[in-house]
Amino acid sequence: MEELKKIIIFSMPFLKRRMPLIFAGLISGFLFGAFNGAYLFILKAAIDNFSAPTSHQQAISSTEKTSKKHFYQKVMDQLGRWLPKANEPLDWKRICGGILILPLIAIFRGLLRLLNSYFMTLAAAKIVADLQSAILSKLHSLSMDFFHKSTTGDLAIRILNDTKAFYDSVSVLFTDIAKDPITIIAILFSCALIDWRLTIVAILLVPGCIVPAITLAKKAREASMGIISYSVAQSNLLFESLSGIQVIKAFCLEKKNVETFRHQANELAKHAAKMSIAGTMVSPMIDVVASFALSLLILCVIWQNISIANMAAIANGAILFFAPIKRLADANVKIQEGAYSAKRLTDLLDTPSTVQEKPNAKAIKTFKKQIEFQNVTFNYGHETVIKNLSFIIPKGKKMGIAGRSGAGKTTLTSLLFRFYDPVSGSILIDGEDLRDLKIEDLRNMFSLVSQDVVIFNRSIAENIAIGKAGASREEIEQAAKQAGAHEFIEKLPQGYDTIIGERGVKLSGGQRQRLSIARAFIRNSPILILDEATSSLDSHSESVVQQAIYQLEIGRTVLIIAHRLSTLADCDEILVLDKGEIVQRGNFGELLAQEGLFRSMALHQGIATTLEGVAS
Ligand SMILES: Nc1ncnc2c1ncn2[C@@H]1O[C@H](COP(=O)(O)OP(=O)(O)OP(=O)(O)O)[C@@H](O)[C@H]1O
Ligand SMILES: [Mg+2]
Repeated sequence: MEELKKIIIFSMPFLKRRMPLIFAGLISGFLFGAFNGAYLFILKAAIDNFSAPTSHQQAISSTEKTSKKHFYQKVMDQLGRWLPKANEPLDWKRICGGILILPLIAIFRGLLRLLNSYFMTLAAAKIVADLQSAILSKLHSLSMDFFHKSTTGDLAIRILNDTKAFYDSVSVLFTDIAKDPITIIAILFSCALIDWRLTIVAILLVPGCIVPAITLAKKAREASMGIISYSVAQSNLLFESLSGIQVIKAFCLEKKNVETFRHQANELAKHAAKMSIAGTMVSPMIDVVASFALSLLILCVIWQNISIANMAAIANGAILFFAPIKRLADANVKIQEGAYSAKRLTDLLDTPSTVQEKPNAKAIKTFKKQIEFQNVTFNYGHETVIKNLSFIIPKGKKMGIAGRSGAGKTTLTSLLFRFYDPVSGSILIDGEDLRDLKIEDLRNMFSLVSQDVVIFNRSIAENIAIGKAGASREEIEQAAKQAGAHEFIEKLPQGYDTIIGERGVKLSGGQRQRLSIARAFIRNSPILILDEATSSLDSHSESVVQQAIYQLEIGRTVLIIAHRLSTLADCDEILVLDKGEIVQRGNFGELLAQEGLFRSMALHQGIATTLEGVAS
């Protein structure tokens, strides 16, 4: 019950949007349930007509004088006139009724079932589609810290498998849970009117169905948790293996990987088998209880001398009665399976985004004056990575950042993009706190060229156009020319339409870097961030890419991070970071002239000796 509640609460916002479909499904389900009761009445009336009442039954019916029984009797009499009767001539009414009433009921019943199933399945499918979109949109809205904590495999399983498991539970919730309780009530009501004693015998056996249903559902839930955890592990392994295939081959990890995958697949199969057993055992176990009920009914009929018509109607009722009970028990198993997935989805949808846009966020379209860090402190969770940092980058200037690996340089750029917010202090653009600005506007202020170029599995032209939505072919070619990429693109088999494979494997490091510079050109943002843009390139590629970068820097405010200190020679100011703190600041010459981290790094790179003259 708790699980059912969870699923209903979770799906409520999605249910609301699909109310007309659900309403149509509920009405058809309700009518379907009611028709099951009608079917029993007609069956009883038909058999009653077939045999004369016994003296015992006549005695009983003469004592039953309540208005309800009277009405029931009237209905049965009316119905009896439309059915063939023993010892009475067959008129057209009895012939038509005899031939048509039962098939008509069956047609209506079938039609209602079809409508119920159609509306409810459609509603469930649409709800799951809404849910999948909501999850994807939620994922896009989440801040970077969430992605550092999650694995790709886990997120993929949530979007694909968990929504599917949730779909299964929502569809049974709609088709069976909405319809079957009404069916059960209608059948019980009809049976009680026909013969309450036999009905009580059938009801007494219901707990015999509930116990296996609950036990098996628990088993299904455990199996479902196992399935999900192994699916996540498997999908993580798959993502890692495929994206890191080169490393796997280089370290000869293929065999080990396949073994791990096989182990996971075996565990998955074990849990899937357990789940299947739990699911399929429900039905036979309830069949046993139902057969027991039938045997008891036969005993009662003989013992109490009950009419064949009542016996036939109640026996049919018992069959009709146990069918929805069976479906409900199956549904319970499915709900248990879906409940764990629903929990995983709720957890995801409830995850707050640490970086959020304020409802009244301000637009910012132009960069006028400066970027300012005011006493900014930041950590990724534990250790402080940026400590009380304050500096200003005026418009049009070039600010360099130097420091050892892990000093917090890239973290600074992440704070500028608002991938994270500072723990204390603030970052201002033209006097406006980043947290008060529209996130899209803010990110449009920057172009990032970093060491790690992400190439999408699309054409070269599309890869460049990522920098600006809706860019024309002329703009794309112009940007490529400025980035020094046009020549090598022209030489590719389909030029700008060449599809570059996943992670751009068909391009060299220098070519990829030039594409990323072309993206920055086409984006045409006022502020350029260069994070080790050339550090992975050989000296020839570096000089080609560097020329393109110089072009890109013209007329822009630049924040440049570089290990190779010579790249910072023309900066207006350089900040030297150590463990998140500014330990030195000044221009290239000043820093070389000072004793300190910068000079010692420069000495290591063989720069200080050659440039000391410049410094002094
Ligand atoms: N996503 C993250 N989660 C937790 N810690 C992180 C994360 N990213 C970076 N760090 C930590 O923050 C510190 C600063 O990292 P950052 O990437 O800013 O250094 P960096 O100066 O750019 O180094 P490098 O020169 O090697 O690129 C490091 O100690 C690093 O381990
Ligand atoms: Mg870095």
